[in-house]
Amino acid sequence: MTFNADSRVSEPSILVIFGATGDLTHRKLYPALYNLWKDGLMPAEQCIVAVGRRDKDTEGVRQEVVDSVKEFSRVEWDDEGVDSFLQRFHYYQQDLRDEDSYGHLREFLHDLDGQYNTQGNRIFFLAVAPEYFGTIAERLYHNDMAPNDGTSWQRLVIEKPFGRDLESAIELNTVINRHFDEKSIYRIDHYLGKEMAQNIMILRFANTLFEPLWNNKYIDHVQISLTETVGVEGRGPYYEQSGALRDMVQNHMLQLLTLVAMEPPVDLNTEFVRDEKVKILRSLRIHPKAVVRGQYGEGTKDGRHLPAYRQEDRVSSESNVETFLALKATVENFRWAGVPFYLRTGKRLPRKYSEIIIKFKKLPGVLYFKNETLDSNVLVIRVQPDEGVYLKFNAKRPGTGETIVPVTMDFCQSCMDGYNSPEAYERLLHDVMRGDSTLFTRWDEVEHSWRFVDRVARFWQESSDDIHIYPSGTWGPVQSELLMREDGRDWLYL
Ligand code: BG6
Repeated sequence: MTFNADSRVSEPSILVIFGATGDLTHRKLYPALYNLWKDGLMPAEQCIVAVGRRDKDTEGVRQEVVDSVKEFSRVEWDDEGVDSFLQRFHYYQQDLRDEDSYGHLREFLHDLDGQYNTQGNRIFFLAVAPEYFGTIAERLYHNDMAPNDGTSWQRLVIEKPFGRDLESAIELNTVINRHFDEKSIYRIDHYLGKEMAQNIMILRFANTLFEPLWNNKYIDHVQISLTETVGVEGRGPYYEQSGALRDMVQNHMLQLLTLVAMEPPVDLNTEFVRDEKVKILRSLRIHPKAVVRGQYGEGTKDGRHLPAYRQEDRVSSESNVETFLALKATVENFRWAGVPFYLRTGKRLPRKYSEIIIKFKKLPGVLYFKNETLDSNVLVIRVQPDEGVYLKFNAKRPGTGETIVPVTMDFCQSCMDGYNSPEAYERLLHDVMRGDSTLFTRWDEVEHSWRFVDRVARFWQESSDDIHIYPSGTWGPVQSELLMREDGRDWLYL
């Protein structure tokens, strides 16, 4: 039996992708659209308009869609019946800075309404550089393409980064809000589209087993690690402005943290869930001394030389931007007071994975816990590459002795035969089509995340500590281990 909290259906619309010649569109959006279509989750009349600056035509775009799907889709390309998929794609050539082009775009879309019966419904997906977000929102509004008459709907989907600090995020939000109301804005955090991120609430609130223990009486600490093996991969100019703090912590890591720490919402309604997440962000505290910044140096992998961050294309040779970050935060509320949340993220580490570890407290030191080496229970929520849940507990070793050994239950849903989990963008695009914004970030979530991140950035500005260089292919600077050791703990690898 399945439980579907929300039975909203997707109505036909025109999905307009600004920045259709970019990497995100090719690697993620086109394959996601193909998979939605394959799974029968795309409305029969859905139309897609790719907007780009290059001189191209609709046939050219359709060929690009085929190429992207063949290269990046989780479901293999199948020629059968694809005409009905490809015919939905159209190309509109536009220089985003050209004011007049928006009026022509409106007419172009209006003509397509006639063909597809899309009735003025629009999804504007901004897969462009952030400096265009405000301008596009403004011009859509001035050309009658923003929500206005209530007979059709228009949704604005915005990729990160949403600002680079609180001040710039407020500025951007003010401009966008002038033209699109909050409920029409879908701020993407692709981590929320991942299967296991969605599973956190279910694990917590649909199991008697965990929720009663989910507090400072029973939990010793929480670790959240999002580690990567890649470097900045040609994104130097962007990364020089963001660093790991803005690239990963402000969004993905804090979102996972809120899902782990939030109180049960009143019900599964979007706003109730978001209300609870915001409360956590407001309760987050950081200690200035409990933050470690690192930057990758040179290294080797499989006999291949890996350049240091400072040697990457379009990165300053004196850059102090962090590619690694470890920090300890606390959530100052009744449930969590005294429980540290350790966050760690970095590039060029030995392994790519995203995991949340809940380490439970030891039982009182009588009976079995007189033995100090006996370890407490651990629950791991594996977000990627494996998706699943791992639980470690103590049991008697079979035989005549009394030896206690750790045993594990490891549920790996992605390891099951034939399992092929939907990509984050499939879920997110489908939700935009259905008008469900639960997995998107509301403005006050963004605002309070920035407040936290700005506090961390301020500590750095005020401190004279140098950035710690770590060799590529290691687990970051030794100071990250020391951060844990000072508290008598370690990063766990399970
Ligand atoms: C993006 C960051 O948001 O997330 C990238 O900008 C990072 O720097 C990526 O590599 C990681 O996402 P995933 O899904 O591969 O863990």
